[in-house]
Amino acid sequence: MTDIDWDELRAAATDAMRRAYAPYSRYKVGAAALVTDGRIVTGCNVENASYGITLCAECGLVSELANSGGGSLVAFVCVNGHGDTIMPCGRCRQLLFEFAIPGMLLETVSGIRTIDEVLPDAFGPRDLEEATR
Ligand code: THU
Repeated sequence: MTDIDWDELRAAATDAMRRAYAPYSRYKVGAAALVTDGRIVTGCNVENASYGITLCAECGLVSELANSGGGSLVAFVCVNGHGDTIMPCGRCRQLLFEFAIPGMLLETVSGIRTIDEVLPDAFGPRDLEEATR
């Protein structure tokens, strides 16, 4: 699972971006990720008149992950309305971490990075397990 087809992932993210609902910011986002079983899950941002409850593209992506059979994320990319790669926001890095394989790869504005590089010393499920031991 080391050969990631980044072009295919970016194309899936760009396709999802076209379905974004972003009438307020006018900033469309699409996200795509490769799952451990080989399938690709996607998401787009869905805004709301109550601005603060906007759903980022990554929210839709992790929802699709769960609702299409689960698994873990191997590689991830998100794009803006021009199809250019953007960084997932801080909150969404946490969303991704929950479902990432160790060392999950992201295509970022500064090249291919691991989840640990974009969310160092992450708080995660293991912290909760340790607290209940
Ligand atoms: N947005 C995402 O969907 N994902 C990100 O990681 C960054 C921001 C969306 C939220 C909002 O609809 C728009 O981009 C502008 O912030």
